[in-house]
Amino acid sequence: MTIIDGKKVSAQVKEQVAEETKQLKAKGITPGLAVILVGDDPASRVYVNNKKKACELVGFNSVEYALPATTTQEELLSLVDELNNRKDINGILCQLPLPNGLDDAAVIEAISLLKDVDAFHKQNVGRIMLGDYDFLPCTPAGIMEMLHAYDISVDGKKCVVIGRSNIVGKPMAMLLLHENGTVTICHSHTKNLSEITREADILVAAIGKAKFVTADMVKDGAVVIDVGMNRDENNKLCGDVDFENVKDKCSFITPVPGGVGPMTIATLMKNTLKAAKLQNSIK
Ligand code: GUN
Repeated sequence: MTIIDGKKVSAQVKEQVAEETKQLKAKGITPGLAVILVGDDPASRVYVNNKKKACELVGFNSVEYALPATTTQEELLSLVDELNNRKDINGILCQLPLPNGLDDAAVIEAISLLKDVDAFHKQNVGRIMLGDYDFLPCTPAGIMEMLHAYDISVDGKKCVVIGRSNIVGKPMAMLLLHENGTVTICHSHTKNLSEITREADILVAAIGKAKFVTADMVKDGAVVIDVGMNRDENNKLCGDVDFENVKDKCSFITPVPGGVGPMTIATLMKNTLKAAKLQNSIK
């Protein structure tokens, strides 16, 4: 059993981004990421801080807009509009979920297609379906990069994704399909879930429930990818997989923390670099 080291792979990706950023800076271009955080969700605050830290590490400029939960839709859309027009901002990220009363979809759609570094805009989502895209969503793309780093082939494998969110489950299934996996998406209405998950060569858990995936749900020798970020009964960070009990059945497994999370951020850095290049017509 190998524990996949997301921190290590993400450090390699960020190093590569930092190197390319140096070359871009020599041409007078510094990639810039705007991060919008509305309200005071503590988990979102941690994610946003980590994203800003990564920007600093690779040599990007980052600007944070921390807005109160009372922010109106109009105020938010007017900020996005201002950022769309700023030459020094190449990527715009609005941390989700937004507080009640604000419309995630409307905000995402207001973001310029070329600055949509989360790849959440419906036109960018459509391009991903067709396999003709500029940006891939950060978490699924980070997972694919991790699989590649460990020479784990998807081709012909039975892949099961638990969770059908727009941010992870649906695009994850699509990226696995692009690499010739045979993909099943499971969700809260799925019947006989463990029968399906036990067939998986590659199992991706993106449910949002602490230690939901137990050993009896996992096939011997499976690759298990844990997208969860939860707190257990002792308030300790844990994933959607019962790591201690599942790990010995796996060929590969990602830990939480230190697995998928750092890869999400590394992909965001890649996307922001790409956005800066696209906006400056650099290949
Ligand atoms: N909330 C959970 N994951 C993400 C992400 O990748 N990007 C944004 N903007 N919000 C999120």
